Amino acid sequence: MSQKDTFKKLENLNKAAEIGGGQARIDKMHNAGKSTARERINILMDPETFVEIDKLVMHQTKDFGMGDKKIPGDGIVTGYGKIDGRLIYVFAQDFTVFGGTMSRANANKVIKIMDLAMKMGAPLIGLNDSGGARIQEGVQSLAGYADIFFRNTRASGVIPQISAILGPCAGGAVYSPALTDFIFMVKDTSYMFVTGPDVIKTVTHEEVTKEELGGAMTHNSESGVAHFAAQDDEQAMMMIRELISFLPSNNLEDPPVIRTDDDPNRVDEKLRDLVPEDPNKPYDMKEIILSVVDNHNFLEVQPHYAKNMIVGFGRMDGKSVGIVANQPAFLAGCLDINSSVKAARFVRFCDAFNIPLITLVDVPGFLPGTNQELGGIIKHGAKLLYAFSEATVPKITLITRKAYGGAYDVMSSKHIGADVNYAYPSGEIAVMGSDGAVNILYRNLDDEGKKQAVEEYKENFANPFRAAELGYVDEIIFPKNTRKKLIQALDMTKNKSYSNPPKKHGNIPL
Ligand code: HXC
Repeated sequence: MSQKDTFKKLENLNKAAEIGGGQARIDKMHNAGKSTARERINILMDPETFVEIDKLVMHQTKDFGMGDKKIPGDGIVTGYGKIDGRLIYVFAQDFTVFGGTMSRANANKVIKIMDLAMKMGAPLIGLNDSGGARIQEGVQSLAGYADIFFRNTRASGVIPQISAILGPCAGGAVYSPALTDFIFMVKDTSYMFVTGPDVIKTVTHEEVTKEELGGAMTHNSESGVAHFAAQDDEQAMMMIRELISFLPSNNLEDPPVIRTDDDPNRVDEKLRDLVPEDPNKPYDMKEIILSVVDNHNFLEVQPHYAKNMIVGFGRMDGKSVGIVANQPAFLAGCLDINSSVKAARFVRFCDAFNIPLITLVDVPGFLPGTNQELGGIIKHGAKLLYAFSEATVPKITLITRKAYGGAYDVMSSKHIGADVNYAYPSGEIAVMGSDGAVNILYRNLDDEGKKQAVEEYKENFANPFRAAELGYVDEIIFPKNTRKKLIQALDMTKNKSYSNPPKKHGNIPL
């Protein structure tokens, strides 16, 4: 082949890779409101930074007439680029080529960039849009999936791994995302299920739509499988960029510092009256969060799931923090199964990636009920206790109002290793609320007697002073100074050096 012919051949192969399954299939994706794999990568990465690897890889299957059907790239685009100038590895399944399905060759491409991401210590982002295992390849495809699962697990806690679900993902296609740290879904175009509606109908005779079974809101609000819901592909890519901005590239680095002109000593008089005096009155904990973080910018994780617990990322004086907070405006901010698991996973992520934890506490205790007990609240609540106890990053806690019972211990109390514990003057740290306590201690008293007993109990326990006397609370702070005090505590703890005893790994109650 002459040099001219080689150049021509390369040009043609590149073009064939770029057009993938052809213009008609690309149009079909656009008409369905979806972007193509390459378009998604271009939106995700800083302009002109994406470098494709393995563009000419093709499958080697001959069965089922596949020998004649080869498209360079084989249904997946892989490579690296930059987000905010930082190195990122990415793969994007191309639904126009064999439905973006997983072949051996396709898996090898993913494996190559996963191994590079681990060696270079950079995040991995997977843009999933796939019919699952490529049926024509049988066990080769299953092996490819398992090779990826294995690497997802090894990379867990070493580099951030982020998945976007941007089309139908069934069978094996859901398990790699499930092993990653965060899952984004897009409303009306993305689905995740282990077995789809047809199989379910055959096996259990249940009728369910794919939206109900595995749509974006199902997984964002009911199952808790997904963490973010976007309106379209473009918004999903922008949200991933924002998430990445809070994270270090790997577990040996600190998150990037983003300089801010927001005064670290900024006071907020509004906070003075935010917490109602009546302990039964709700208020919105997000107001405190938004008040204290830099430029009021808070990226909430799982905002639609277990709303009695708020988790998410913000910055304080330019540095990333993970915020965990009870939400008194929803189910009174109680701890239940879903909120415990939601927060535990978030705490472990922050701890793995050197992100200090700020915990805001207003919790009346664990949610009573047979559903909770039979559902295993003991085991699930223990996950959060375990996660906070095990976390060695700086841990700062602020009790805004109630910190009752076991939930006081769980919510990053001094006793499980918090470094700085604050309370507002409105803090109440006790085994339970005053009415409940009096009904147990003085059940035979008349109404007047009970009223007096309630007053006495409030005097003793419905305030933060007893805890402050004992040193369980380091300082009672004025609400308007919350931002300043949290930043002061973060500054004091920034060189924290503390580790758990050597072990292979702990045994978190799963
Ligand atoms: C090979 C596949 C395929 C697959 C889709 N295609 N899924 N090819 N293996 N698994 C092909 C189709 O034949 C079609 O090719 C093209 O991709 C687009 O698919 P359509 O069906 O036309 O698209 P659409 O109507 O949008 O439906 C998409 C879909 C559906 C919902 C994903 O294709 C589907 O249900 N596919 C099967 C999903 C599945 O059961 N996968 C296996 C899961 S088991 P042409 O050439 O006609 O355009 C699994 C095991 C791994 O993954 C376990 C590891 C633990």
